[in-house]
Amino acid sequence: MEKVKIALIGAGERGQFNYAPYWKLHGHEMCFGAVAEPDRERRERFAEEYKIPQEGIFERAEDFFAAPKVCHGVMICTQDTRHFEFACRAVRQGYKILLEKPISPDIRECLELQRLAEEYKAEIMVCHVMRYTKFYRTIKKLLEEKAIGEVVSIVHTENVGYWHYAHSYVRGNWHRREDSSPMILAKCCHDMDILSWLLGSRCRSISSWGDLRYFNSAHAPAGSPKRCTDGCPVSGECPYYAPALYLDDEEKWPTAITSLGVGRGRAERLKALEEGPYGKCVFHNDNDVVDHQVAAMLFENGVTVAFTMCAFSNDCDRTMTFMGTEGELRASMDRNQIQVTRFGAGIKTGNTQVITVVPGSAGHSGGDQGIMEEFVAVLKGERENTNSISQSVHSHLMAFAAEESRITGKTVLLEEFEERYRRQ
Ligand SMILES: NC(=O)c1ccc[n+]([C@@H]2O[C@H](COP(=O)([O-])OP(=O)(O)OC[C@H]3O[C@@H](n4cnc5c(N)ncnc54)[C@H](O)[C@@H]3O)[C@@H](O)[C@H]2O)c1
Repeated sequence: MEKVKIALIGAGERGQFNYAPYWKLHGHEMCFGAVAEPDRERRERFAEEYKIPQEGIFERAEDFFAAPKVCHGVMICTQDTRHFEFACRAVRQGYKILLEKPISPDIRECLELQRLAEEYKAEIMVCHVMRYTKFYRTIKKLLEEKAIGEVVSIVHTENVGYWHYAHSYVRGNWHRREDSSPMILAKCCHDMDILSWLLGSRCRSISSWGDLRYFNSAHAPAGSPKRCTDGCPVSGECPYYAPALYLDDEEKWPTAITSLGVGRGRAERLKALEEGPYGKCVFHNDNDVVDHQVAAMLFENGVTVAFTMCAFSNDCDRTMTFMGTEGELRASMDRNQIQVTRFGAGIKTGNTQVITVVPGSAGHSGGDQGIMEEFVAVLKGERENTNSISQSVHSHLMAFAAEESRITGKTVLLEEFEERYRRQ
């Protein structure tokens, strides 16, 4: 078969630096035929590196979709609020689609895209990259093999990491709900998806609590200016002091986040801190997304889940404990470790097996390249898409329902919740 051709819509951090590099090892089976990106530096860099023909270079997605169809698939990697409209256009034009999460920050748009995809029989793979990691695949296999019997209850913690939270959710793209998504959708739609996927069950009801506790002016150190670079009196001890976080010379995330300028020198990066969002004091910002949230869930198969997302952790780690009828499974994604204990004949006589998973080298422990592998195989017609839009919409609904519960203080029944929005 000829190589499959893909168009990249939005050549930013995710599209250009996390998914596209798949081509470097798999150029014999796929290539990029087009790019749409308004930022000239990113567009030109991508077009040159990925050898895009002149007629395949567009300044905006709108121009790409107005031109004749030249690719088999599209990767939509724009910001949260620009996924839905481009996905709808791609569905109508018959593209197979890799779509960055979230589908949309608007629940009605998520449901509408599912309806449209069903009408056009379109393949849409939402980037639930965790499912493609060896870590989660190993856990799924163990659960399916009944390594701990029947799962009864799960404790799942999303330890965001204090510096990661400050980077993405106080200073970065996802710091305001209105401009992007609520935290439980932006960060935790992965967790909602993983839970439902691992259990092979839909969520029945959800209750949630949480707020923005710390990153506000009430906690600003005395005399702290609006920017770290304006002579902050606590620069030596504040864990969020921007020059300490961003001026190291390494060119990796988040130090090299594109808005600070990939490949630029220290002087230019300092200027970006003096003028741009990443130099702002974390206590004097307009952020409004929560810094801690918990959710209690009941799944249709009777499994209960206690979920916690919290900014205040040292590691960025997802940790899970699965409690089963015949044993327990404890897992840490950051440590790539899964510990399975089968209950023994007496008190604490169980046997423990420790599995260390070798993660993939690419982003999200190999999940970013794993999903590319499946997308290309689906484009080539060699594999079924295992990542259906209806499952993705369900895990998004879990996040929206948790947010409604957090705001109203009431338990949300997923079926009623979905029905209410489907009727609107
Ligand atoms: N799957 C994951 O694990 C994961 C992780 C991080 C972020 N994300 C999601 O990925 C998405 C992209 O995030 P990012 O960090 O790459 O953002 P980014 O801002 O670096 O990239 C988005 C790009 O879209 C471009 N763009 C804007 N308008 C456009 C238009 N009309 N046509 C074409 N391109 C346009 C921007 O110029 C930018 O380069 C977000 O929705 C985010 O929530 C997913």
